[in-house]
Order: sequence, then structure tokens, then C-alpha cells
Amino acid sequence: MFARSAARALASPSRLFSTSASRHTKVAVLGAGGGIGQPLSLLLKSDPLVSSLSLYDIRGAPGVAADVSHVDTASEVNGYAADKLDEALDGVKVVVIPAGVPRKPGMTRDDLFNTNASIVRDLATAVARIAPTAHILVISNPVNSTVPIVAATLEKAGVFDPAHLFGVTTLDVVRAARFLAGVSGASPNDTPVTVVGGHSGATIVPLLSQSPYGKGISGEAYAQLVHRIQFGGDEVVKAKDGAGSATLSMAYAGAKFTNSLLRGLNGEKGVITPTFVKSSLFADQGIDFFSTNVELGLNGVEKIHPIGPLSAEEEKLMEACLPELKKNIEKGKAFVA
Ligand code: NAD
Ligand code: LMR
Repeated sequence: MFARSAARALASPSRLFSTSASRHTKVAVLGAGGGIGQPLSLLLKSDPLVSSLSLYDIRGAPGVAADVSHVDTASEVNGYAADKLDEALDGVKVVVIPAGVPRKPGMTRDDLFNTNASIVRDLATAVARIAPTAHILVISNPVNSTVPIVAATLEKAGVFDPAHLFGVTTLDVVRAARFLAGVSGASPNDTPVTVVGGHSGATIVPLLSQSPYGKGISGEAYAQLVHRIQFGGDEVVKAKDGAGSATLSMAYAGAKFTNSLLRGLNGEKGVITPTFVKSSLFADQGIDFFSTNVELGLNGVEKIHPIGPLSAEEEKLMEACLPELKKNIEKGKAFVA
């Protein structure tokens, strides 16, 4: 069954994709055969800003490509088997990476590190060699560590451009808007929430005080809403009961973020969304990757916005976020060093 949000987006792509810009782009999905990769590839096939899709996986990508390629949109689709990674990356401008294992109940995202760190490092090594100027969107968990791994790998290869690397935290933003809409009775279109920090438990910090619908929520209702935003991923892992983690809502979020980046790359102004990037905001505390509102532009990261005013509760959430985030980032860096 297809997630309602993704199905709505397919029925009416304008809900998910804005098309005001006109230049088109070749996009690769690495891990295209997986639970996220398949619906993400389908949604990207519906994005008018994608001119060509390169689908790669160690298993099943040619089949996914053959299937998706029949959708009646203009883009071309090609599938690449395990030994064809270099061909898959040839000429791509944007690389989206959902390759890697997902959680099972009882696991943290950090428990995925041992398997996913080397997958992401090896894919980043290939991107550095074949498409060194590509924009890289990392979905694979633990994002707080896999993004520093990609950065360090590109740095080693001498091709790291901080404006071209993004940890995809859009699912936290999507969840926050949806859950706040549920609590406030408003439409999710009216309840955007800036979510800062990283992408796991306490490192996910929703700034509800900056939302007209969120700022009045207090007490137990506030605590429950924050907990749901921070641990929404666990809700899905538990409900899927061993069959993996969020795939459909993640595909929606991944396609949404990719479209935002493509709009920025195509010259649209004012495209602003939270994403986990190399950032100097907390560098004085030894934290050099952080998610906050980022303006996307012709070269990727155009401007990193400050986090803005925080409530007393949010100050406390930040206190819990920063040490854990720092540990996750250092673990990623140490893996490559
Ligand atoms: P999945 O197991 O369904 O799919 C993963 C795919 O990656 C598989 O098809 C597998 O063959 C492929 N793969 C493995 N090694 C590869 C390699 N070296 N090169 C190319 N492909 C490779 O898992 P999923 O549910 O799609 O989740 C993928 C990842 O995304 C997990 O790490 C998960 O935790 C993460 N995730 C992140 C977010 C987020 O918000 N950033 C949300 C949901 C899931
Ligand atoms: C999520 O937030 O749904 C993903 O990070 C997957 C997970 O492991 O929870």
C-alpha cells in the first residue's frame, strides 16, 4: 500500500513539486532497489526538474528502472547492476543515497553504524572519482555520522565542497508539521516547524516556539508533541515489527528535499529548508555539522540561517542535543581517519 502523502503527491505532483525553474538535471539514486529507493525513484520520475534518473543498487536496480521508466513523464531512466557504479554516476549533478540497512525494533540508529559506515564511505569514494562536483544527499543512517563520513572521504580525495553535501532531515520537518497540525487542528500547510540539530532522538530539536500554532502549546501536550517528533522513527520501526523503518514517508521527504535543492540550483530564490550541513554555528563547541534552516541556491548551500530565539524548554532540548551530536560526528570522522 502506498503512503497517503506519496499517493496524493502522485495524483497531484504540484503538491510535492514546484516547477517554476526551467533547467533540468541528471539525478542518481544509490540504493534504488530498497524500501526507500523504489518509491523515491518513482517520485523523482514525477519531478519535472529531473531530466534523467540513474538507478543503482547492489540488487535489483535494473528491474526498478524498467518499471519506473514506463511512467509517462519526460525523464529518461537507466538501471545499473552492482558492477556498474561508475557508469551510474557518469554526468550526474545530484546523488541521493538511501543505501544501507534499516533498524529493527530495539535498535538505535547508531547500531547501524558498523554496517552503513563502510557502505556510505565506499559510495562517496566513487562519487569523488566519477562525479566530484555532484551535490550529495545522504539519507542512510545514522545521518549524524554518515554525513561526516562522506565529508571526510571527499576531503581525503581533495574534492570536498561543503556547499554540496546535505544530510536529509526533511522527514523530521514533515513529521513535525503533520503532528503539530494534528494537535492544533490546522492544515499541515500552515504548521511548518523549523527542526534543528541532527537526526536521532534527543538530537532532533523542534523549535515550536517559532511557530504561531506551536508557541501556545505547553505542559504535557508540549512534552508529548516533542517526544513524538523526536521519536517518530521508532513509532514506525515498532509498527513494522521487524520489517524495517520508514520508507514511504521517507521517500516523500527525500523527493521533497531533492526538489527544493533542484529549485535552488536552477536559480529560484528564497528556497529555505532545514538540512544537516557543515556549519560554523556551533563550531566553537567542536560541532561542525548541524541542521538548521539553509537557503538553497545556484551552488547548493547559499546561506546558513541562525537558529533564532529559543524558549526555555528549547534551551534545555539544545543542552541535550549538543553533546550527543558531537559524539556522533566524532565517531564518523574517526571512522575515516
Ligand atoms: P532497505 O534495506 O529496504 O534498502 C536498502 C538498499 O540499499 C537495499 O536495496 C540494498 O541492496 C542497498 N544497498 C546496500 N549496500 C549497498 C551498496 N553498497 N550500494 C548500493 N546499494 C546498497 O532499507 P531502507 O528502508 O530503504 O533504508 C535505507 C537507509 O535509510 C537505512 O540506513 C535507514 O536507516 C535510512 N533511513 C533514513 C531516514 C532519514 O530520515 N534520513 C529515514 C528512513 C530511513
Ligand atoms: C526515521 O526517522 O524514520 C529514520 O531515521 C529511520 C529510523 O531508523 O527511524
